[in-house]
Amino acid sequence: MMDRVHITDVAPRDGLQNQAVHASTAHKLALVERLAAAGIGSVEITSFVSPKAVPQMADAADLLPQVQARLPALRSSVLVPNRKGLERAHAAGAHEIAVVLSATETMNRKNINMGLDEAIAVSEQTLQAALALGLRTRAYVAVAFDCPFEGETPLDRVVDLSLRMTKAGAHEIVIADTIGSASPGMVKERMGALTQAIAADKLAVHFHDTRGMGAANAWAALEAGIRRFDASVGGIGGCPFAPGAAGNLATEDLVLLAERSGFSTGISLPGLLDAIDLAQEVLQRPLGGRSIAWLRKQRDSASGTHLKRPQGLHQSPTQLAPPPG
Ligand code: COA
Ligand code: ZN
Repeated sequence: MMDRVHITDVAPRDGLQNQAVHASTAHKLALVERLAAAGIGSVEITSFVSPKAVPQMADAADLLPQVQARLPALRSSVLVPNRKGLERAHAAGAHEIAVVLSATETMNRKNINMGLDEAIAVSEQTLQAALALGLRTRAYVAVAFDCPFEGETPLDRVVDLSLRMTKAGAHEIVIADTIGSASPGMVKERMGALTQAIAADKLAVHFHDTRGMGAANAWAALEAGIRRFDASVGGIGGCPFAPGAAGNLATEDLVLLAERSGFSTGISLPGLLDAIDLAQEVLQRPLGGRSIAWLRKQRDSASGTHLKRPQGLHQSPTQLAPPPG
């Protein structure tokens, strides 16, 4: 059996939270529908944060129930920064939440207006309250490689925070390279240390492609035994509170990397291209990861022979032809 790689697409949240062009609730729903049609099984739909902090996510309570009604088989996750966010998410019918803890004092202050100690306590309390409500839980450990304000993040702190979030009941710990500064060597070292402390199946990675290292970092994570990844279709993404954070590792690049290396993702590349086409219309600018030109060329030249379009939810992955030569 092929090894399965599990991808959570974070485009509707990490991708859209920082865009100049405002995506409507209907556009967001349409994007999530295209992701699900491409075979994506898990999506971070939105965040229940202060609308003053992130106006693009102000429609969270409107969007989430619509997504869950239309796509009941999809794992719909939402980001919550505090208890108020959890309460709002629960009232909107959330089944899965993610708390966001940064590994440094300054990044927590900039992002959620709390110091590190308070952010740890709030994240623990929010996780425990979510568990009591029967929700599935993820915990981000943000700036787990470098912080834009404090430089390289100490590895022992990343391990310690991950363990604390695990003890507080997080089902999944998401190790995030928020500004996209990691290298494959760092990923190997850090994910190696983390898998000594926490089962690999409970760990996920979240890369940004700021320096073009996203795919290489994903490979290093795969080699360290990690099988859970965040990625963003079209590579859209970035944190408004972390200077220098560019787009996420593109879902299409990660799917291509994984499938061409013998892993199965269950995700259709032509289906992802359809999602990117829609996102481009909405955001009115060209999108796509490193592989986008080649993928489009394949689609345009395939004329239906080996590039079938997706027909519904969770169909088997459609392989693109191998590169010539
Ligand atoms: N959702 C909506 N409103 C919220 C909220 C939430 N989760 N948490 C707090 N608020 C409201 C409060 O009710 C209060 O409203 P009021 O002014 O009408 O009385 C206001 O926000 C200030 O509350 P306070 O607890 O003092 O929050 P703050 O100003 O210290 O901001 C956060 C803290 C966490 C709410 C804010 O920094 C935030 O939303 N950050 C999100 C950052 C983010 O999304 N980053 C990108 C993803 S990593
Ligand atoms: Zn991110």
